[in-house]
Parts: sequence; C-alpha cells; structure tokens
Amino acid sequence: MKQVTVVDHPLVQHKLTIMRDKDTSTASFRRLLREISHLLCYEATRELAMTTKTIETPLMEMEAPMIAGKKLVFASILRAGNGLLEGMLDLVPSARVAHVGLYRDPKTFEAVEYYFKAPEDLQNRLVIAVDPMLATANSAILAIEKLKERGAHNLRFVSLLAAPEGVKAFTDAHPDVPIITAAIDEKLNEKNYIIPGLGDAGDRMYGTK
Ligand code: PRP
Ligand code: URA
Repeated sequence: MKQVTVVDHPLVQHKLTIMRDKDTSTASFRRLLREISHLLCYEATRELAMTTKTIETPLMEMEAPMIAGKKLVFASILRAGNGLLEGMLDLVPSARVAHVGLYRDPKTFEAVEYYFKAPEDLQNRLVIAVDPMLATANSAILAIEKLKERGAHNLRFVSLLAAPEGVKAFTDAHPDVPIITAAIDEKLNEKNYIIPGLGDAGDRMYGTK
C-alpha cells in the first residue's frame, strides 16, 4: 500500500465540504463522518488477504472468496476517533476494538495519555487506527507507539483531514504505517489547527465547547 492515500472520491469530497461548513449541525456532522468513514474503510481494507470457502448456491457448489486471517482491530483515538469507528464497524461488524485515550495539551500540543485498552493478540491482526484529525501528528504518533508496544506490527492510520506538517511528522516516525485520508489541507495555524480545516472535530461531533 502507498505511504499516503488521499481518497479523492466525489462523494467523500462533497460530504467533507458540508462537514467543514461552520453552520452544519452537530447531528449532520456526526452522520456525515459516519458516512465518509464507510468510504475510507473501503480504501483502508482494499488489500486484505483473501481465501476461499466452499459454499452451495441454490444452483451449484462454488469456491467463493472470503477475507483470510484473524479478525481485524480498529483502534479509536478518543474522543473524535469514535466518529470514524462507528462507520468502520458498520462495514466490519466482527472487528475487535481498541481504545486509546489521548488529549492534546492546548499549550504544549503534546499528546497526553489517559486510557488504553486493546485486545491481547495485536501481533496477529491488522490494526487500523482511526482519528479524524492529523494536525501536528503528536497524538497519532503516540497512539501508534502504544499499539506497537503491545505487539501490533501490521498497521494503518485512517484520518479525515491531515496537515502537511502532520503527514511529514507521522511518516518520519512510522514509515511502515500507511495513511488513508480524505484530504490534506494547506497548513497548521499558530494554534496548530488545520486550516482551512473544520475546527475541533471532537467539539463539532459532540456539541461541546
Ligand atoms: C484532536 C484530534 C486528534 C488531535 C490531533 O483531539 O481528534 O486526536 O486533536 O492533533 P495533533 O495531530 O496535533 O495531535 P483532541 O486532543 O482535541 O481530543 P478530543 O478528540 O477528545 O476532542
Ligand atoms: N484537532 C482538531 O480537532 N482540529 C484541528 O484542526 C487540530 C487538532
């Protein structure tokens, strides 16, 4: 898989534009994030290994394709990751789920860890970490470090919006982890917000602030 995939699909781009609009309601924002996450999940799982299974259709026996290997893991970087997680689980309902609780310190912009819970056998599974925003990448880099410490070595990172600075920092830190994102915006502002961006994803999803 390429190091960075931008899902430049008309449906994704159209929905993202509505999400960026500051007048979009909390309910619409959540619904659109869930819808886009289906399309990002489709891309992130494109290269899953396949096997076959013998089944009987109403007409005849056939060797039919199935996804091979252990169930995959979605790792949600809290809080905003949950908005992507829900849609991913719509498509892969049997996936295992890890939660990585991190918040971005508003002064230092360092990621601060407050929770971690993951399935035991990460080493045997594809782990797809999800967080809508890749700004400085401090949060994503730490989350991937934590998952690697717990044995994960086959990883992907799915985001909605990324800053070029974050993409660079992430790929320097974790060159083995492909990024799948809907867009790479212009830059970070002085408060390390992605611009033009969409604001604070967690606040917009949950109506906080
Ligand atoms: C946001 C976002 C990412 C992080 C991105 O989370 O969801 O986790 O900031 O910024 P970074 O790339 O500079 O680390 P936030 O800390 O606001 O927490 P929340 O999801 O709980 O709102
Ligand atoms: N976190 C967000 O939610 N938005 C940004 O633009 C940067 C970090």
